[in-house]
Order: sequence, then C-alpha cells, then structure tokens
Amino acid sequence: MLLEEGLAVIEGGGEAVLGRDDLADCLRRGPSVDEPLFRAASAVLSRTVGPWVFVRGIVEMTNACRKNCYYCGLRSDHSALPRYSMPFEEIAAAIESGWAAGLRSFLLQSGELLGEPHIALVEKVLRWADESWGDSVRMVLSTGELPRAALERLKAAGGGRYLLRIETSDPVLYAKLHPRDGLHRFEERIQCLRNLRKGGWQAGSGVLIGVPWQTEESLAGDLLFLRDFGIDMCGMGPWIEHSGTPLYASRHEAPSRERRVSLTLRMIALLRILMPDINMSATTALQTLTPTGLERGLAAGANVFMPNLTPTRYRLDYNLYEGKTVVPDRIEDVLDRMSARCAAMGRTVVPGEVGDPLHFTKAPPVYSPPGEEGVGDHDDQVH
Ligand code: 5AD
Ligand code: SF4
Repeated sequence: MLLEEGLAVIEGGGEAVLGRDDLADCLRRGPSVDEPLFRAASAVLSRTVGPWVFVRGIVEMTNACRKNCYYCGLRSDHSALPRYSMPFEEIAAAIESGWAAGLRSFLLQSGELLGEPHIALVEKVLRWADESWGDSVRMVLSTGELPRAALERLKAAGGGRYLLRIETSDPVLYAKLHPRDGLHRFEERIQCLRNLRKGGWQAGSGVLIGVPWQTEESLAGDLLFLRDFGIDMCGMGPWIEHSGTPLYASRHEAPSRERRVSLTLRMIALLRILMPDINMSATTALQTLTPTGLERGLAAGANVFMPNLTPTRYRLDYNLYEGKTVVPDRIEDVLDRMSARCAAMGRTVVPGEVGDPLHFTKAPPVYSPPGEEGVGDHDDQVH
C-alpha cells in the first residue's frame, strides 16, 4: 500500500501496518505528507486519548550531573555553568505553588546523581507529597539512570512515573553522542528502563531528534523500539545546539533547525499512530525552536504539556541547550494562556487530572474541564 493510502485508512479507523521502510519514507518526504499524516494522527488521538491535555509542573531540583553527554549543557565538564541544588523547602514551595494553581502531577527533574544526599532528598520530597496529598497527585521522576535499590526506595516513597530517555535506539549513534568512559553505556540505559517497568513504574522514554549523523532509518528504528518496548509515556524533542558542548563543533552535520522541528512533529504523529494510548508531551525543546511548538506538537498527536515551576533565579542555569525559554510568569497566568491556546484548537486542558497513561491503566477515562461538574468523579463515566 502506498503511504498516503495507508494514512487515509488509519484516519478512517481501519488497520494499516506502517513498517520500518514506511516510517523512514514518511520522515524523508517533502511537506505534502504532513497534512495526511497529521490528520491520521489526530483521528487516532480523538478515538483514544481524546481532546484532553494533561499538565505536569516541572521542578528542576538541581543542575548537577555526574555524566558528560556530548550534547548537554549540564555535562560535568561544562565548568562555566554555575551549579545549584534547591533545598527541600524550596522544592516543596514550588510544588505547592503548582498545587494551589490546580495542578495534580509534578515532575522532579535533575542531572544524574547517585549520592545518598540526592536520593534521600528525592525520597523526602516524594514522602512529603504522598503524606500531603496521597493518591490525588502523581509524582514523576526524571533523575537519570539509578540503581535498582534506589528505584525501589523511591517507588516505596510514593514515586509513580519515571522518564528515562534512551536518546537513540541505535547503539552506534549512541556511542558517537556519549563518551566511552564506562559511565555512558547504551545497554545499561536500556536495562534501567526495563528495571523501571519491572518495578511497576509508569515508564516513559524518548529520543533526541535531528542530532548530527542521525538518519531517517535510525529515527524509524527509534519509533519501533519505543513501540516494541511498550513505553507508557514519551517525550521527544529536537536537538538544540549548545556552544559549550562538544557536539556544537559538529552542528553542520545536523539537519537545519526547521527540519528538526518538522522531523519532531512527524515523529510525534507516527508514534501516536503506532501507540494510540500513550501520553506524549509537546516538549520545551520543541517550543524553543518554534513559538507555536505547543500547538504544533498537540496537533501532531501530543497530549501533555509541562510548565516550569522552578524559581526563576535557577531556571537559566538549567541550561541543557541555548535559548531555552524562561517565562517568569505566574503559573496561573501560564495555565490561562495555555488553556486559551488549546481551546482555540479544540483541545481542553485538564490541570486537575493526574492523567495516568491509558497504556498503563487500560481504562478509558473521561475528564471534565475545570469549573464543570464531575471533575475527579469518573465512577460512571467509563464508556
Ligand atoms: N538539545 C535538546 N535536548 C537536550 N537534552 C539534553 N541536551 C539537549 C540538547 N542540547 C535532553 C536529553 C535529556 C533531557 C534531560 O534533555 O534528551 O534526556
Ligand atoms: Fe546529565 Fe542528562 Fe545532561 Fe547527560 S543529558 S549530561 S545525563 S543532564
């Protein structure tokens, strides 16, 4: 079947298999493939996760990291970067500001640190959230590859979801993007993702899109990896140059920024088709490369956005890449603006929902927008 025919079948609710060649072909095509692709992804989204947009408030706890990924501004060799670590009270206050604005899901993000003080701090935040709000919030961690014992400890403390991007499913490309020093091992990363799933976490992953030397075949392989692994959540975004990192020197080997945006949107759409019931975010990196990244990501098939709750004075130092947007606005204003932007495209932001991925729960919920009756009452709403 031709790609366009397959996409039309998918849009109409039928079955069409997109194999590795179709996926790579779709990523390689000119702009005319976008419309049928996004229409198909949008139809799949409407039939499964629906028009709802979930919200996770991000707290970037510390920008310290033991690793040295060639693309990332937080890499340990980037000595020009001032490092910070938020104390417990500030982390709790940031989360409370999100709670007061109606958010019910929070993402604790940091570089990778294995020391006891860091793990104990994450554990303390999770216990505090659990004691404060119990099952009415979901705490999400994105704190790198942790040993099994630490993961078990954090799960017991109330952790529910974990995001660990594999960055690329291609071991050869992975080796080009990371130092060969024993700290950055592809197999160990995959093993950590497996441990998360075995440990009962809602497991999220994702890849970097448009890094130097990456091919469309490699990206097609990423999509199949994510599908075959059976992730529950996905965050994937374009690579963005950072002049303080080694990968900057190879920036001419990467696709243009415009092409990276286009590839990211197509990857989101294709993954929505391959995995109809996962949660997928319109990432900050996508929003950094295009001012309408939120709308474009959601239109391509994303259903999550993640406003930042980190105090403004720390935010610039969470410097994964250059040009990261720092909006000093109150979370209430950010939510209002996002809700209006989503409503304009027929989507409904539901900040008060924990938004468990359907892929994990297998239960089709129906949510009500804030202010309407029935929020949080799903008992008779399953259909
Ligand atoms: N551009 C885009 N994303 C980046 N990340 C790290 N560095 C960059 C960059 N230069 C992403 C990685 C990592 C996440 C925390 O941030 O995918 O998993
Ligand atoms: Fe550390 Fe993650 Fe950046 Fe790698 S990508 S240097 S692990 S923060």
